Amino acid sequence: MFFRCLGDTAERSRLKRMNDYTQHGDTSCLLHTIAVAYYSERLAGRFSARRNELIRGALLHDYFLYDWHDGLPERRVHGFTHPSAALRNALDDFELTEVEKDIIKKHMFPLTLTPPKYRESWAVCVVDKACSVYEVFAKNAYPKLKSLLKTNNSELYNLVASAV
Ligand SMILES: [Fe+2]
Ligand SMILES: [Fe+2]
Repeated sequence: MFFRCLGDTAERSRLKRMNDYTQHGDTSCLLHTIAVAYYSERLAGRFSARRNELIRGALLHDYFLYDWHDGLPERRVHGFTHPSAALRNALDDFELTEVEKDIIKKHMFPLTLTPPKYRESWAVCVVDKACSVYEVFAKNAYPKLKSLLKTNNSELYNLVASAV
């Protein structure tokens, strides 16, 4: 189910463009986003009747589509502003449910003040932080996830592999 939803979201959006931008360390925004969605689903999928929304929302949580290391003055507030930028871009590509919107809007809590409303948004909020810390320190992050991706979606795998 995860890889079906990932493939479908990638086909219908600008998700692949996220491979051009670095998130943390040597991890691209695309790989970060796939990892956050995958581990959020692992953490909360079995407790959720909305697994598709959990995965889709997580895949779009950082859909801001720019390089936040580019040194522009407005990047100083990137941490606060990128959830709204991601939501705007996501709404250009998809009709989103309330759960998906909440996942994107609230994932930076407590930096942004409003707490997540749904268990799916809590899961993404927590997993995003864990993944971010891991990525800062990891060299060649997520080897297991990459090999799963290789089996399930070779196009996205080739893209992700080309970024490192
Ligand atoms: Fe984010
Ligand atoms: Fe993130």
